[in-house]
Amino acid sequence: MKILGIESSCDETSVAIVEDGKKLLTHVVASSAEMHRKYGGIVPEVAARKQVEYMIPVLTEAMEGFTKDDIDMIAVTIGPGLIGSLLVGVETAKTLAMAWGKPIIPVNHVRAHPYAAFITEDYSSSEGAARLNREASLNNKSSRLATARSNNNLGFPAIALVVSGGHTELFFMKDASSIEWLGGTLDDAAGECFDKCARLLGFENRGGPAIAAAADNFQPSKSISYTRLPRPLMDDPFNFSFSGLKTAVLREWKKLANHTESHINALAFELQEAITDVLVKKTLHAANIKNVRSIIVSGGVAANQRLREKCMQKITERKLPFSLHIPTPRYCVDSASYIATSAFYHNQPAHWKTISATPNLSVE
Ligand code: KG4
Ligand code: ZN
Repeated sequence: MKILGIESSCDETSVAIVEDGKKLLTHVVASSAEMHRKYGGIVPEVAARKQVEYMIPVLTEAMEGFTKDDIDMIAVTIGPGLIGSLLVGVETAKTLAMAWGKPIIPVNHVRAHPYAAFITEDYSSSEGAARLNREASLNNKSSRLATARSNNNLGFPAIALVVSGGHTELFFMKDASSIEWLGGTLDDAAGECFDKCARLLGFENRGGPAIAAAADNFQPSKSISYTRLPRPLMDDPFNFSFSGLKTAVLREWKKLANHTESHINALAFELQEAITDVLVKKTLHAANIKNVRSIIVSGGVAANQRLREKCMQKITERKLPFSLHIPTPRYCVDSASYIATSAFYHNQPAHWKTISATPNLSVE
């Protein structure tokens, strides 16, 4: 079964076709993130206008080599997200469903993130293989990890952590078709903490990658001293809190006499350590409590190399009986690939007349 997925919940416009819930046949993403940099955050009106502009070119490119007869169903993110942005994807999906006479599967964006771990890429075309090789050499470390963790051994039950700009959630998956919410952040999301602290340290919007790069440049040997930041809510099994960490970074920033590159790198390093310590400890703890076979880490923050390494390191060091599944970074960030994948496992088609954009759709 081939499902065409459409994603437009934030500032990305993406279309993908996935076969049988795993084989990614085509995948196109256009982003307006660069445009938002100068405003220091996403401007919803700007994002939605760009999505109106990008949707048809993205759809046309994704459909190259396919016809409507190849598509069995359409899956679309209906929420949570920005209303203007969601409307672009939802109305496009409804129009296609009506014109092509296909059913639609409405998808919850946050609950779909873990399905990125199910994706296998289609290596059948030489062009596809060349593209994937190019991406692999650009992103050597993370690609190796993703390859080492083959999707084929994803056993259930599983714990799925979703860490993105708007969400930090833990789910229990009894099997591929069931996803039960266990807990989440009580205030800021992990990605939000990365982004807000990045702005504070003078980096641009979408600051997770900027913090990670600064942390990589930190050289402990240069003996810059820094205060240990808090690891909030460590005793709560399934809930998180990151707003106190942001305040602690602000306090440290104000205390610093010099804002040199070395001081900024040291603070970025400690922030990344604090966030990843919390995420790894709680995820492993939840996996123990629920006695699972696999752990999935997904969402934009799962692209963080230190988080990926730390998860693997703890599992290996403690000889824990979990297999770890972290998607390749391009499927961690927002994409239609896992919208279509998730729809295969939650195959509840609806008539296009009943589908509507739902910005506050609950993740529970
Ligand atoms: O899932 P996503 O693309 O969009 C949302 O649904 O929010 O996640 C975006 C978030 C941003 O907060 C971004 O800073 C963070 O993921 N992020 C990272 C990294 N790459 C993206 N955070 C830490 N390290 C990274 N390498
Ligand atoms: Zn997301």
